[in-house]
Amino acid sequence: MKDKKYELGLIGLGTMGQNLLMNMADSNFAVAGYDKDGSKVDALDEATKKYDIFAAHNIKEFISVLEKPRVVMLLVPAGKIVDYVIEDILLMLEPGDIIIDGGNSHFSDTNRRVQNLKDTGIHFVGMGISGGAEGARLGPSMMPGGHPETWNRIKNIFEATAAKADGEPCVAYIGEKSAGHYVKMVHNGIEYGLMELLAEAYDFMKNVLGMDNASIGGTFRKWNEGRLKSFLVEITAEIFFQKDDLTDNDLIDMILDASRSKGTGKWTSQDAMNLQAPITLIDTAVSMRELSGALEERQQASSMYSAPDMVKITDTDKVVDQLEDAIYFSFITAYAQGMGQLTKASKEYEYNLNMESIAAIWRAGCIIRASLLEDFRAAYQKNADLENLLLDADIAKTVDSLQNNARAIAQMSIQSGVSMMGLNSAVSYFDAYRSKRLPANLIQAQRDFFGSHTYERIDKEGKFHSNWG
Ligand code: 6PG
Repeated sequence: MKDKKYELGLIGLGTMGQNLLMNMADSNFAVAGYDKDGSKVDALDEATKKYDIFAAHNIKEFISVLEKPRVVMLLVPAGKIVDYVIEDILLMLEPGDIIIDGGNSHFSDTNRRVQNLKDTGIHFVGMGISGGAEGARLGPSMMPGGHPETWNRIKNIFEATAAKADGEPCVAYIGEKSAGHYVKMVHNGIEYGLMELLAEAYDFMKNVLGMDNASIGGTFRKWNEGRLKSFLVEITAEIFFQKDDLTDNDLIDMILDASRSKGTGKWTSQDAMNLQAPITLIDTAVSMRELSGALEERQQASSMYSAPDMVKITDTDKVVDQLEDAIYFSFITAYAQGMGQLTKASKEYEYNLNMESIAAIWRAGCIIRASLLEDFRAAYQKNADLENLLLDADIAKTVDSLQNNARAIAQMSIQSGVSMMGLNSAVSYFDAYRSKRLPANLIQAQRDFFGSHTYERIDKEGKFHSNWG
């Protein structure tokens, strides 16, 4: 048995686990790794020869080399596997030890695990981690939940390894219980929204404007130099310059148009419904992934219906500029909806979220990092209780200046028969949100008509019922 003790042990040595361990070792933390799959342990050993990382083949030895109180981090697929791993290590741990789940676990599973471990004296931290394999290596954005005292005990290692935005680490204590995983889930919902919008911009440039891959990629590159600067715009630009290894074509043209998902976007929408938080753009992005997957139905329908003629564009440069405005408008909407959901969840689930800090730790390391997060941070700095980013005066000024071009592109897309459901949803959401009066009076009347559900009046307090018809 080894004498040396390690400050953190990580179970789950996929690329992400391996990279995170190397990142921690780079910051001079002594860390150990274990995986049930021995070949991954060997791979860690091989890849980390110049690092002081202990690759354990045996779970007992792995636990025994950890400094007490022990910190065991799990980076394993969400779901049952997390429970199995906890079961495997539980008897080897002692009160005061800490288990961190760094996967994309559903927040209700995290709440259950916190509750189940309560009597054992073992602390459980549900930590959202964003940034993929590269983020893990160079610095991810991390969203830890759990007990604040537990966080104080482990924060050094995570602050050292997190991405930095203007020198500030992109990790901060999020809140009790499942708060960290909840915030990561909504991060992913926003991620779905932004990705859908960029796919729509591509479709519009390709089919309405007739642009080729190089000019589409060039346009995304240009956008990434301006106010749309973000990780997703940056990688989207690069995708259009990638050649296929198997043919002479651009790789993008050889990829099947059916997007897959692991479920976090769907969870965001599902819980938004529970909270009565309208996140139409994110819902649309989730639905569009499903619609893209219905390949056979779409083939059948495409042979049954005619498509309208594309609108005639005379000034492509002007329309590309309008499109940039439209995408910027919709990006803001995606964040406004997701962050609005977080504000509701904070009250409902007593997370006590600090929205300014969430905007701050999303500025680097994570998939939705973008320069406009600085504006959101400033908005929450002015008003920590802001219910919706669209209610901030500075953001309102920006959105107001973009709305006409967002409408213009939405119109062109509808006229041309090119689906831009995300953009159209953003425009319609905006119109509903800024409406003093919506037609919901009719819905109240209908409910009372067929079900005596009663309605409220604009001139008197109370519930009313009428004999209709
Ligand atoms: C991140 C990503 C990461 C993962 C998504 C993909 O923040 O690093 O969000 O967690 O890439 O879960 O999600 P889908 O498979 O659902 O698109």
